[in-house]
Amino acid sequence: MINILYSSITGNNKDIAQSFADSLSNIGVKYNIYDIYNIDPSIINQTDILILVIYTYDEGTIPDESIELYEEIKNSQLSGMFYQLIGSGDIMYGKENFNAALDKFDEVLNLSNAKKISDTLKVNLMMDERAYKKILEISEKLAKNYVF
Ligand SMILES: Cc1cc2nc3c(=O)[nH]c(=O)nc-3n(C[C@H](O)[C@H](O)[C@H](O)COP(=O)(O)O)c2cc1C
Repeated sequence: MINILYSSITGNNKDIAQSFADSLSNIGVKYNIYDIYNIDPSIINQTDILILVIYTYDEGTIPDESIELYEEIKNSQLSGMFYQLIGSGDIMYGKENFNAALDKFDEVLNLSNAKKISDTLKVNLMMDERAYKKILEISEKLAKNYVF
């Protein structure tokens, strides 16, 4: 099961998640899409491919609503799972903090033995052409190599 999980306050990350969903639809790949507010974190254990799209807050912290998911990943063994990290942050918060929530999830996903599909995609504020192209690229890679 492909699960797109997103967290968004002002809509940028929701737009990115929807754009990812649309690009999968266009190539006939099935998925679920959920706002992290509405999920039970144990969903991670029924996920074959995780597309995680989240914002970063207060100096590099993960969204409050994603803390339980973070803990669940930390306490799980996910060696059969593949993941892709995408997020919108704001470069004005400094290079070190820019989309740092993605790096925090990367760390626990890696420790849980999940495998990365492509490099983390860090977007500055709204979706742009570069992000759009990269999303298409990742979707195609996913359809070709990971969906059976
Ligand atoms: C109080 C506050 C703190 C923020 N801190 C960071 C940060 O440390 N790093 C970062 O990349 N973006 C930071 N941002 C920017 C948001 O992550 C960015 O605006 C993002 O696009 C919001 O996503 P959303 O539209 O999906 O809610 C911060 C924004 C606010 C309002």
